[in-house]
Amino acid sequence: VAARSPGHPLPALPASYHELRQAALSCTRCRLSETRTQVVFSDGVVEAKLVVVGEAPGANEDATGLPFVGAAGQFLDLLLGTVGLSRQDTVYICNVLKCRPPGNRNPLPDEIEACSPYLKKQLELVAPRALLAVGSFSAQALTRDSRPIGRLRGDIHSYEGIPLVVTYHPAALLRNPGWTRAFWDDLQLLRSVMDGA
Ligand code: URA
Repeated sequence: VAARSPGHPLPALPASYHELRQAALSCTRCRLSETRTQVVFSDGVVEAKLVVVGEAPGANEDATGLPFVGAAGQFLDLLLGTVGLSRQDTVYICNVLKCRPPGNRNPLPDEIEACSPYLKKQLELVAPRALLAVGSFSAQALTRDSRPIGRLRGDIHSYEGIPLVVTYHPAALLRNPGWTRAFWDDLQLLRSVMDGA
């Protein structure tokens, strides 16, 4: 990662949403900027009640510049729809990493660290009523707890004062249909949090 020595702190990120997005779109804070096609900043509405945070763009997302547009994303939209949530009017979707790791390898710790100021600022500016972390990278990054997803799910966590529910990644559900019931339960928990129960 470039410019990460203690003597050369990264420049502060801009304070407005528009400028933050512009800064991300030309980011070179880590090596993924060398291999990405497009930066994948977000989809959905900025005035969202819910922010969904995934792991990182895949091939479809890298090509389109939008998060969760492949099979996993379509499944996610379907599941969110069952509790009355959609990118059209209530949901904002983004990822821990804004750029695709080559070959869809796992995010590396220094990449998560370089990218996390964008996510932090994004969540601060969107200021949703609740957060849903999908998959272990997102769940562990937002809870700052390294336990596996199976242990983190089922509780209401807190991220900077925002209630946070964590669940399986929709791509994992496509591989393990047996986890769909647990995901469903997590969505009900999320819905109750959002309804102020
Ligand atoms: N998986 C993710 O975690 N994010 C995307 O945007 C697409 C697939």
